[in-house]
Amino acid sequence: MQTKLEHSQQDSSESFAREDWASAYQNVEKELTEEILQVEEGSLPEELCGTLYRNGPGQMERGGEWIHHPFDGDGMISSINFRNGVATLTNRFVRTEAWGEEVSADKFLYRGVFGTQKPGGFFANAFDLRLKNIANTNVILLGDQLLALWEAAGPYALDPKTLKTKGLSTLGGVLKENEAFSAHPKIDPGHHYNQKRLVTFGVKTGPKSKIRLMEFANESEQSFHLIDDRIDNFDGFAFLHDFAITPNWAIFLQNSISINPIPFLFGLKSAAQCLSSIPNGQSRFLFIPRDSGLFKGQTPRIFNAPSGFVFHHLNAWEDESKVAIESIYYDDFPSIGPGEDFREINFDLLPEGRLKRCEVDLASGRIRTSLLSKQCCEFAMVNPNFLGKKARFAWMATSECEEGNGPLQSIKKLDLIDGSSSKWSAAPRGFVGEPIMLSKTDSNNEDEGWIMVMVWNGARKATDLVILKSINLNLQAIINLPLAIPHGLHGCWVNS
Ligand code: CO
Repeated sequence: MQTKLEHSQQDSSESFAREDWASAYQNVEKELTEEILQVEEGSLPEELCGTLYRNGPGQMERGGEWIHHPFDGDGMISSINFRNGVATLTNRFVRTEAWGEEVSADKFLYRGVFGTQKPGGFFANAFDLRLKNIANTNVILLGDQLLALWEAAGPYALDPKTLKTKGLSTLGGVLKENEAFSAHPKIDPGHHYNQKRLVTFGVKTGPKSKIRLMEFANESEQSFHLIDDRIDNFDGFAFLHDFAITPNWAIFLQNSISINPIPFLFGLKSAAQCLSSIPNGQSRFLFIPRDSGLFKGQTPRIFNAPSGFVFHHLNAWEDESKVAIESIYYDDFPSIGPGEDFREINFDLLPEGRLKRCEVDLASGRIRTSLLSKQCCEFAMVNPNFLGKKARFAWMATSECEEGNGPLQSIKKLDLIDGSSSKWSAAPRGFVGEPIMLSKTDSNNEDEGWIMVMVWNGARKATDLVILKSINLNLQAIINLPLAIPHGLHGCWVNS
């Protein structure tokens, strides 16, 4: 049994062996259908009834050429269904148009946003500005459509059970063909209008940026409709990966970065490699009033934000005259340059993400920033019933080290009020992905439920699903999946 994640050769100063971490980067070789899973350790809670969906890059190499950055890998969806104490696994690549063309050609035909080049050097890459929708960032359920999301283009719809790709979706005519649709929708638990909503956005950027904010509600199990829709224009380039919501606001952090497209046009760099921080630039919060809130129809409000680069937010909430936004800040935009190999990155040279809270006084515009945790973290979430409300607890993936940067190897539960924390560690041979918190339906305790997390098991060279008790991070179950899935991105839990 390999679940005990035994020690391997490693630097004395490090909690991991680079080879274990890098071994996750391989092509997903199999597509399984309702494969029955064996619990290796612990047991499955009887009341778990639903499906965990995960998305992430599944194609790392084609025709002998490697992608330059894992974010350029084609999306592969895994679903793990739980029913009557039995878990089954199904996984499929998203059959995007480009995926089909590249499978046939057995080589990359498109450049990647994060640096992947087509074979053939300068002349093959210069002035090829086509985007390849790789549908690899997140997966959500809207009505009866399972959507594989990639923020620069439209969503791909899949069958929620079989994961068969249906095709690019316009969500029933809501989106123009291939209109940008964020990979970070928020499910508003709907405490203030007794109905859940899916709130999301699309952004079109350039010297000016346009944000389209959309809110959907389910009409039935099968169908959904667009309830609210507004468009706002802002000055400046905007790289907006994530956002946060409160009952009254949709909140964006416009990082202070600029883009120089010339090396991209000439095929020397990818679009993302042309981004750079503006020295002494000012980041801004963009507050867009939600149509469901008190400030419906009003113009957006703009506030200065702390310096640093943000991909992901934990949560946001309102308290009398102030709004708090909790986010993971990096000192600078992390990028992998044209000559570097992502499997050999030096964690010590990359900035780490740290969780901070920024409180904005709406009347005066004054902001107050506090550090919630100095430990390197990513993929943080609160109990989904507390999204947009003041939550006491957060769960996140962290490095093993207390300070500085390192690969994500632990799950941490953080008390956002008193700062106390507990952790579960997969070190030295395990590497964690995004934790998903499932709240226990019949409990009044905010922190009661489970954490589900995919763990790359460096000893087994395959993926484990680990289930923890969210209240204390004690182990509930480990399932050794019969599949090797590279370090992934985002996903969700859907109750049956
Ligand atoms: Co993300």
